[in-house]
Amino acid sequence: MYKGYIWLKLKYLFGFMTLQKIVTVVGATSVQGGSIIDELLNDDRYHIRDVTRSLESRPAKALATRGVEVVQATTDDILSLAESFQGPSVVFGSCQALNLAKAAAATPTLEHYIWSTLPDAKTQSSGKFLQNFYWQTHRPIFIPTADKYIQLNGYPANTLLRPIGDAKKNIGVFIRAIMEQPRKTLPGKYVRAHTESITSGEILQRWDEAQGKGAEYIELEPSEFNKIWPDWAEE
Ligand SMILES: NC(=O)c1ccc[n+]([C@@H]2O[C@H](COP(=O)([O-])OP(=O)(O)OC[C@H]3O[C@@H](n4cnc5c(N)ncnc54)[C@H](OP(=O)(O)O)[C@@H]3O)[C@@H](O)[C@H]2O)c1
Repeated sequence: MYKGYIWLKLKYLFGFMTLQKIVTVVGATSVQGGSIIDELLNDDRYHIRDVTRSLESRPAKALATRGVEVVQATTDDILSLAESFQGPSVVFGSCQALNLAKAAAATPTLEHYIWSTLPDAKTQSSGKFLQNFYWQTHRPIFIPTADKYIQLNGYPANTLLRPIGDAKKNIGVFIRAIMEQPRKTLPGKYVRAHTESITSGEILQRWDEAQGKGAEYIELEPSEFNKIWPDWAEE
């Protein structure tokens, strides 16, 4: 039995957190997990637990300083994971789907398991795939001789995207909404999280308005795009 669990039992014993729901975040040191911490940490109704691979890492220590219970486990080891889930009411995960699901299934006290993933974009877009605007493959490139930016894309400017916006802020907002509306989100429901519907051309246009430097959207054939970033057009 690991230390965090004993500590938690003691807290229950003394009645400090009888009404608190335990939210276990696998990877609270991540972008998505960190967003949940920011959203829920100051809400007295929740006790937040981070599952990390290393208690000694700087991000894990920083979380402990903020009042998060930090426990050690890895998704490579289902047993350690299942131990870290002891007692939680809600578990959030976004990596290593199979082992997380197995550990969650082996946790009788679990009320709500939230798995963050991307939709099957290939099916939903009839074979076209949506890309992340901020990845190196889509970051606007400054052309000094033109004194403006260009963005190379392997799809047209009227491609409809459904982004989550600022993941650091918005993931936590969605997770709270999912947790707090179990009638809508259980059992086995998908929640599609996006902040707006917008075309790839409009996103660049907004970026351009913010930068004020000028930006041109350049559509390439996927084969041409692949010459620059091999395999990314296929992805
Ligand atoms: N951010 C996005 O916009 C985005 C978009 C689409 C998909 N995704 C996917 O969503 C997942 C999370 O992305 P992110 O950007 O939020 O994460 P991230 O910032 O890349 O951080 C990775 C997180 O996973 C944890 N982790 C890694 N290996 C682990 C293991 N074996 N056992 C337990 N924890 C482990 C790390 O925790 P410790 O280092 O503390 O152990 C860390 O908190 C990734 O699979 C990513 O590909 C992210």
